[in-house]
Amino acid sequence: MPAFEVLKNPQPLAAPLREKILETPAFGTQFTDHMAHISYTDEQGWHGREVRPYGQLVLDPAAAVLHYAQEVFEGLKAYRHADGTVWTFRPEKNAERLRKSAHRLALPALGKDDFVDSLRELVALDADWVPTPQSDTDEVSLYLRPFMFSAERFLGLRPTQQADYYVIASPAGAYFAGGVKPVKLWLSQNLKRAGKGGTGFAKCGGNYAASTEAMVEAAQKGCQQVLFTDAEHNTYLEELGGMNIMLVTSEGALLTPPVSNTILDGVTRRSILDMAPSLGLTPEERPITIDEWREGAANGTITEAFACGTAAAITPIGGVLAEDFEIAQGDEPGEVTMKLRRALLDIQYGRAEAPDGWMV
Ligand code: COI
Repeated sequence: MPAFEVLKNPQPLAAPLREKILETPAFGTQFTDHMAHISYTDEQGWHGREVRPYGQLVLDPAAAVLHYAQEVFEGLKAYRHADGTVWTFRPEKNAERLRKSAHRLALPALGKDDFVDSLRELVALDADWVPTPQSDTDEVSLYLRPFMFSAERFLGLRPTQQADYYVIASPAGAYFAGGVKPVKLWLSQNLKRAGKGGTGFAKCGGNYAASTEAMVEAAQKGCQQVLFTDAEHNTYLEELGGMNIMLVTSEGALLTPPVSNTILDGVTRRSILDMAPSLGLTPEERPITIDEWREGAANGTITEAFACGTAAAITPIGGVLAEDFEIAQGDEPGEVTMKLRRALLDIQYGRAEAPDGWMV
């Protein structure tokens, strides 16, 4: 495979300004000096691998992405370990998911090697942008955002014949402003995120745009996140607005809805399920109704709940607010939630041994 051409930014951000950003990074507001890029056309396939200065894109106003949202993306993080080395977490999983998402949106398949190499090249060049955690509970990292879209100048609808793939990087702290404080969910009963046979399982911009109105409703109700139930029965738990959900039972089970064509196959979700048995928990992927949660929280059989995702890591859930009822799940982070969070972060930050192939 051809190597990436590296075009260094002649005007990188001055080191003192970069260091200032890295002291207290927010989520998704600051970007590094470079970005990776690969072009695609039906004639040439993937070509023009490069890492070049971060900067604006020029798009034809007729580009399909601007009209039909023919776009997919990924999210993963690079973590600095105590010895200064920098690692990503299970990037092959993201590569695989990007291919599935791209297939659903009629975008070209990007090879796993191109995906992983694009991350490696960008992170190597912008390694000074990876924040150093100040303690074992610090959650700073370099958030990597690979994305692909149809740049084709054509207003007809079809599998694209021309696409661009980019990776940008952003130093990041906790996704929620309150850090690991429990978040409250708003149960969205009228607005749905996904329907059977739709794009719910794909990581495409449209799913997230479609969650935003419900997020506004949530904020108006004083909640930090939204909980979506299924569109068909309006009762089975699906996803939050951009992260998966798990419940903990008094019997030590870890419950989460099974991935389906309406639920994103989260890498953090999968990793927590993989880790659960070693922490004395029994993973159970099965349909869960909102009534089961409501009753379980009330009678003490459902003891904790948390959100999980790359950006959110593991964030405790304090409860759910619905139009006509409320679920109280606790004002303090749960013990199991924090144990899982610690175990995951310890692996990601190199403080604990990772299963084979997880850290790259
Ligand atoms: C991620 O967790 O990486 C996502 O893409 C979710 C997004 C809402 C930040």
